[in-house]
Amino acid sequence: MRRPILAANWKMHKTAAEALDFAYAFAPRVDGATHADVVVAPPFTALDRIGRVFAGHGIALAAQNVSPEAEGAFTGEVSARMLVDLGCRYAIVGHSERRTLFGETDALVARKAAALLAAGIRPIVCVGETLEQREAGRTFEVLSAQVEGSLAQVPRERAEDLVLAYEPVWAIGTGRTATPAIAQEAHAFLRTRLVARFAGSAERIRIQYGGSVKPENVYDLMAQADIDGALVGGASLDPVAFARIVRFEAEKGASR
Ligand code: 13P
Repeated sequence: MRRPILAANWKMHKTAAEALDFAYAFAPRVDGATHADVVVAPPFTALDRIGRVFAGHGIALAAQNVSPEAEGAFTGEVSARMLVDLGCRYAIVGHSERRTLFGETDALVARKAAALLAAGIRPIVCVGETLEQREAGRTFEVLSAQVEGSLAQVPRERAEDLVLAYEPVWAIGTGRTATPAIAQEAHAFLRTRLVARFAGSAERIRIQYGGSVKPENVYDLMAQADIDGALVGGASLDPVAFARIVRFEAEKGASR
């Protein structure tokens, strides 16, 4: 049985002061939620301030990016060791926005994941096909290549520290969620790729779904056999909505 993991990806939203308001509103709403790992990835600038609030509530802090380099003359970059210092337990790498807007390749994502693992941070590695690729019948081919390339440097003995996030690009920020059946089909396929890469450990790797997750659809997504969590953008900016997503079991029947 894989432990559910519900994560907020705030992208480039909220000042540190706004993030603190969220933390004070959100933390009491998920106190005692022991059924799942709860993760929040604010912008770098808010990590320190909200990390201090979350520490007392069992909410894990995550970064949205990391440098593949350990240290040195890399203006504007943030290293894995700096994230450890602020209490980060997870970091997102390979988000489709970074792949498409900032030109990140599978090879770079692989180096970032390796830098995180070396520092003791769990990488949340994102993969997902575009609408064009799906309509051309290339979904599995694209996912295969992304998994192979992005996880190339994850040693088998560290596989369980990995979280994979399936984020179909056509469902991100569009309000167009993958149906539970479409998402499950992709997750089951990704699981076969993980088995090929990591053998027995693959059954313990969590695969999150991301793309227009809301309180109204989270239960039906989480009910799928290979959907172990959610990576939530827009709806995670609201502490009430994200707390409902964390307590997804209470949302049963919300979409009907
Ligand atoms: P939305 O939930 O806003 O569609 O964003 C999904 C996402 O990209 C999370 O990383």
